[in-house]
Amino acid sequence: MGDNGRRCNPLFNRNRLKLGVFATNVSNGCAITLAEGRFETTWANTRAVNTLADQAGLEALVPVARWKGFGGPSNFNGTCFETFTWAAGLAAQTTQAAVFATAHVPTIHPIVAAKQGTTVDHISGGRFALNVVCGWFRPELEMFGAPVLEHDEAYAYAAEWLQVVRLLWTAEGEVDYTGRFFTIRRGFHEPKPVQRPFPPVMSAGSSPVGRRFAAQYADMAFTQLRPAEFEEARAEIAALRRLAREEFGRELQVWTTAYVVCRPTEREAREYLHYYVYERGDWEAVENLTRIMGMQKRHLTPARLEQLKAQFVAGWGGFPLVGTPEQIVEALLQAARVGVDGVTLSWVSYEAELRQWTTEVLPLLEQAGLREPVKRTDALSGRDALSSHAR
Ligand SMILES: Cc1cc2nc3c(=O)[nH]c(=O)nc-3n(C[C@H](O)[C@H](O)[C@H](O)COP(=O)(O)O)c2cc1C
Repeated sequence: MGDNGRRCNPLFNRNRLKLGVFATNVSNGCAITLAEGRFETTWANTRAVNTLADQAGLEALVPVARWKGFGGPSNFNGTCFETFTWAAGLAAQTTQAAVFATAHVPTIHPIVAAKQGTTVDHISGGRFALNVVCGWFRPELEMFGAPVLEHDEAYAYAAEWLQVVRLLWTAEGEVDYTGRFFTIRRGFHEPKPVQRPFPPVMSAGSSPVGRRFAAQYADMAFTQLRPAEFEEARAEIAALRRLAREEFGRELQVWTTAYVVCRPTEREAREYLHYYVYERGDWEAVENLTRIMGMQKRHLTPARLEQLKAQFVAGWGGFPLVGTPEQIVEALLQAARVGVDGVTLSWVSYEAELRQWTTEVLPLLEQAGLREPVKRTDALSGRDALSSHAR
């Protein structure tokens, strides 16, 4: 990691805490709510948010691979852009950030994915990164009419899939591959990606098999961070790094996901959170989502299940960054102290709230030593941008 072949990719810059914007290719992003200002999937919206993040020096623009929504009045995530073509568009519109595509491996042949990834890597000048996911949302996978693999078998498939992609990204001339799932005859791939040996890979699995897959193949893995459980996270992150190091001789970054509600006072932040989760939340969609995830089968108490659903409504179960800019920075400092290398962020009203983030939170992160200062441009100013959505 961090070798010269990837020097254009900001994922390997020196910032102690890297940042990403998550889920701006799907309607509602991560918030399962009907609150006004929620994200609508138009190209103008996604371009506005991601170019703002790019100018602010955020490292990662990460989409969600999704083909169908979760129902309910919002049909959460149901209006969505395909991620490689989304990445190609943003690669042309941005200059600094890593632009991700998320490949649902059962839905795309690795020869096609390798070629699309290489194309985005060239458009972006070496800023492409690939999130590899097996898929878990059966109704969307069933749309393809192919058998849906059992969980661990899906990771075996993903491993071969990624081996083929990397073979094509690196092999000179024609190359064969014979595996359980793929047979490649005289495979050929030119040009090679800009990044060498190949673009970085993200994998966000959380099961034992998923974590092992990340340890073996990914440059970026994910861990779940829970409030007041920073020490547990420290142990989990250390275990993941140890697995990668001892079994596979590899180093990786460990990221987490978070949702942001930043307001001048903690009380205002908590009131708005309550409003969009309990007054305007789409509880029908979250019921569908958690049922398909199998959460109802986990023998949780009704109160615990309700709590988990509320966390999904608030921001896909990510870590709550809820409070004043100072409180948010304090939480992020704690995250960095226990070993978190990066955080993907989501908001209800991405554009206005990201603008606020760049003016009110980013400077404090720089003062705290978590990030190097970026040169601010006019596009980043706009303290009042939040007022239309704030309650
Ligand atoms: C940051 C992040 C991004 C993810 N993106 C997607 C996605 O785009 N599409 C998808 O089907 N699953 C996505 N997932 C789900 C994971 O790929 C994985 O299925 C989930 O974390 C459960 O882990 P497991 O596969 O090890 O059981 C994402 C998870 C995280 C934490």
